[in-house]
Amino acid sequence: MEKPFYAKDFKLGVLGGGQLGRMLLVPAIRYDIKVSVLDPDPEAPCSRIAHEFTCGDFRDYDTVIKFGESCDVVTVEIEHVNVEALRELRNRGVRVFPQPEVLETVQDKGLQKAFYEKHNIPTAPFRMAESKADVEASKDFLPFVQKLRKGGYDGRGVQVIRTEADFPKAFDAPSVLEKFVDFEKEIAAVAARNEAGEIEIFPLVELVFNPDANLVEFLSAPAQIAPDVIARIEEIARQTVNAYGINGIMAIEFFKTADNEVFVNEVAPRPHNSGHHTIEANATSQYEQHLRAILNLPLGSTKQNKFAAMVNLLGADGHKGPVMYEGLTETLSVPEVYVHIYGKALTKPFRKMGHVTATASSHREAAARALEAKDKIQVKTAK
Ligand SMILES: Nc1ncnc2c1ncn2[C@@H]1O[C@H](COP(=O)(O)OP(=O)(O)OP(=O)(O)O)[C@@H](O)[C@H]1O
Ligand SMILES: [Mg+2]
Repeated sequence: MEKPFYAKDFKLGVLGGGQLGRMLLVPAIRYDIKVSVLDPDPEAPCSRIAHEFTCGDFRDYDTVIKFGESCDVVTVEIEHVNVEALRELRNRGVRVFPQPEVLETVQDKGLQKAFYEKHNIPTAPFRMAESKADVEASKDFLPFVQKLRKGGYDGRGVQVIRTEADFPKAFDAPSVLEKFVDFEKEIAAVAARNEAGEIEIFPLVELVFNPDANLVEFLSAPAQIAPDVIARIEEIARQTVNAYGINGIMAIEFFKTADNEVFVNEVAPRPHNSGHHTIEANATSQYEQHLRAILNLPLGSTKQNKFAAMVNLLGADGHKGPVMYEGLTETLSVPEVYVHIYGKALTKPFRKMGHVTATASSHREAAARALEAKDKIQVKTAK
């Protein structure tokens, strides 16, 4: 018999203590679930608010074993963790969600692409490259996007190779070359699957990119696309979470072309940047849904009650050091604006330091409010 989450001595372990972990703590507190967090940064966003905080490297085998062996369930808020240790913890009876196999596939963009091909999940054509020489030998495949197989995040380790003139900047490391997709929109589906195999998908979201930072700058929900395309994307999302067999939240990033071709870009087996707005706009947040999915509970309603827009608060260019926020007070005069500050001590250019969600009774109004807030708030260094 599994120990229920409301048992007095139940403990949930989370690998990673960043903002996603921090937002996961909120519903955990509501259910009075004791959460223990592991992160290498003593000042990580979870450090001062988790029930227990261990400073240590979630990539290190022994550290993860030692951390996880006293937990009933272990989950992650980042995918780059020690998978072997998670397998061993599972052997010892700890429930580990997402499952180590899911993390292993997702950690490697090459394995991920092969996984989609094997499971007939639509994805852009690709090739593997071991070195820069392989990139230079791929003239026939131009234009493409080169992605480091391991270790990239937030657009780092991803670059467009348009012509031969870009070859000199190619990464000299194992990578995936993915055909450049001339997409019209990037769409994300945040889905959850529990142990019973029940699946819920949040209304789709639409991402708008900042090409300089190569980061999502603005998100709008629900996505404004034709109902038949929504249905197709939801069906692929369902197929994808079933193929992985994941227990937990999985965010699936899509490219949609102008003629409504749809490709899976990649997935994240955890709460995701494109689901932040669910905290205020939906009946259940992606964070609560993740808890429900990994704790073998019924999934919550994903109903969206308001139109929503979300902007990330990024560190201003040219500012590196102890953070200072300007304009927060002024922002609070904008109605239905929800400010989230992640509690990171140090800012640097384009670092995700917080976000703002705005809700409204129309897309346009939600976007205007979010952008007004973004305009007002500056993430700088203390003078
Ligand atoms: N094949 C492609 N064609 C066109 N643009 C692409 C392609 N692959 C990636 N991109 C662009 O680069 C962005 C980052 O790529 P990807 O999602 O693979 O990397 P990432 O480092 O995991 O990013 P993040 O952590 O921000 O999700 C995509 O969101 C998209 O805007
Ligand atoms: Mg991505």
